[in-house]
Amino acid sequence: MTSESAMKCQSIVDTRAKPKRVLVLGSTGMVGRSWLELLAQEQIECVGVSRPAFDLMEPDSIAHCLKNTNYDLVVNAAAWTDVDGAETDEQGATRANAHAVDEIAKLCDETNATLITYSTDYVFPGNANKSYTVGQATDPINAYGRSKALGESMIAQSKTSHIMIRTSWVYAPWGTNFVRTIRSLAQTRDELKVVNDQRGNPTSAQHLAASSLKLYLAGAQGTWHLSDEDECTWFDLATEIVRYTELGCTINACGSDEYPRPAARPAYSTLDISESAKLIGSLGSWKTHLHQVLDSIATSD
Ligand SMILES: NC(=O)c1ccc[n+]([C@@H]2O[C@H](COP(=O)([O-])OP(=O)(O)OC[C@H]3O[C@@H](n4cnc5c(N)ncnc54)[C@H](OP(=O)(O)O)[C@@H]3O)[C@@H](O)[C@H]2O)c1
Repeated sequence: MTSESAMKCQSIVDTRAKPKRVLVLGSTGMVGRSWLELLAQEQIECVGVSRPAFDLMEPDSIAHCLKNTNYDLVVNAAAWTDVDGAETDEQGATRANAHAVDEIAKLCDETNATLITYSTDYVFPGNANKSYTVGQATDPINAYGRSKALGESMIAQSKTSHIMIRTSWVYAPWGTNFVRTIRSLAQTRDELKVVNDQRGNPTSAQHLAASSLKLYLAGAQGTWHLSDEDECTWFDLATEIVRYTELGCTINACGSDEYPRPAARPAYSTLDISESAKLIGSLGSWKTHLHQVLDSIATSD
């Protein structure tokens, strides 16, 4: 996507009323589950669907969940999120992250539902030295990023009312994620090595869901960036997890070359969230949200 067409994709329509009925696709994931919790707190009627009833690989199951329905908001939190796995099955990742999203968008349009769907900082190449703005050209360096970038351009060309939210480095008190993994490893190991040459924005899934709803209510349309504020490396994040939880584990910095992975990762993929902050207010620092999530994990131990 060119910068110009992406910029045209971001707009603000009239503020929207609280949705009456919401469908959450991928309700078992970090973001999907956060949405279900948020909607329950807000006393908004919602339905969550996940595999096998809802499967991004099966057009019939998508149609079954979305055709002739009366949701005013559909949140697509389902995706192929296995970044390394996408390298060996790019076709599968593309089916889930692009073609399925296009089918979901068309069904939303048929039923007059607004679609919120998620994309990633990995649509950017990661060779910048300042945060990526919404309008900057995408140029992914791995198969997952390419599948998401194609999904973005398909949605941008659709006439569906939608909010495409790029986010990054998502974690939650549940699911498989970096915060839970480091916390758990630090409980049994004296030392850990963590990469210090990739910079990004850690993002709490619960805060992401709440900010996404705020964008919807404020009338956001098109492509937006949402993450927690301030950037760091994985090493910085791991160091803060261990410091806050007072686990006696030393975190040592290393380079990505010490942990070769099937998919290349962007070295610098922080998102410029200033447009979102202008619309919905400050997004809060990653450290504040990290501490809340670590407290929540500790109480559920
Ligand atoms: N996690 C991150 O760091 C990150 C970063 C940037 C952007 N994002 C984006 O944020 C969104 C939410 O991801 P997340 O962080 O919540 O990831 P997640 O915890 O891995 O959840 C992914 C969800 O997608 C579902 N799913 C996977 N394959 C499916 C299929 N074929 N059919 C139906 N559902 C399927 C999973 O269901 P099962 O429980 O059945 O597996 C799960 O509910 C995604 O669009 C993701 O690309 C995430």
